[in-house]
Amino acid sequence: MKKNIVREGYNKAAEDYSASRDEFANLADLEKLNSLLKPHSTILDIGCGAGIPVDKFFVDHGHQVIGIDISEKQIELAKKNVSGGEFKVKDMSELKTGEYQVDAAVSFYAIFHISRQEHQVLFKKINSFLPHGGLILVTMGAGEYEGEEENFHGVKMWWSHYGAEKNTEIIKTAGFEILLDEIDEGDNERHQIILARKLK
Ligand SMILES: C[S@@+](CC[C@H](N)C(=O)[O-])C[C@H]1O[C@@H](n2cnc3c(N)ncnc32)[C@H](O)[C@@H]1O
Repeated sequence: MKKNIVREGYNKAAEDYSASRDEFANLADLEKLNSLLKPHSTILDIGCGAGIPVDKFFVDHGHQVIGIDISEKQIELAKKNVSGGEFKVKDMSELKTGEYQVDAAVSFYAIFHISRQEHQVLFKKINSFLPHGGLILVTMGAGEYEGEEENFHGVKMWWSHYGAEKNTEIIKTAGFEILLDEIDEGDNERHQIILARKLK
């Protein structure tokens, strides 16, 4: 099953992935979101990985972070890396409407590891976690793709995503106003980054 490929892959590759994760790749976007947050906000990080740089950034800026990830190893690393954060093993596909109440939700390089048919439902659930005006900052696949690769940081891995236009439409349909919608060309990979606000 695809879910097992992803979970077992990150359990094995967690340390190698962390070692190559560019700590500053998302700094401008993190700062943009931070500038829009009230002091002491609560942020849900969906597919938080090892917590660096994203969760550490928000904790260092005085916010409260809840991180969820399907990989036990990633959550173990996040707990070590980000003291003060709250981290839990959880499959984002299993999130329930209204399960969290937070000021903002972020997800970096993670949503494309669940089936793209689930993306619309996921964003509707994320909407239910937020107050009116609540913010999201997410990265999505820039082009359409579904499939697996044999050697992602030494393990098999699986992705599933639409292209940028459809991603934007999904987020708007889930009840968000787009504040920023860009393609990040860094690291030989193209990702879409979207900052959006829940409509009033
Ligand atoms: C490429 S890593 C990114 C980690 C982190 N967000 C970062 O920016 O470094 C993708 C993460 O998504 C997690 N993930 C994949 N599928 C998931 C799911 N169904 N539910 C929760 N987390 C998931 C993986 O375990 C992995 O930690």
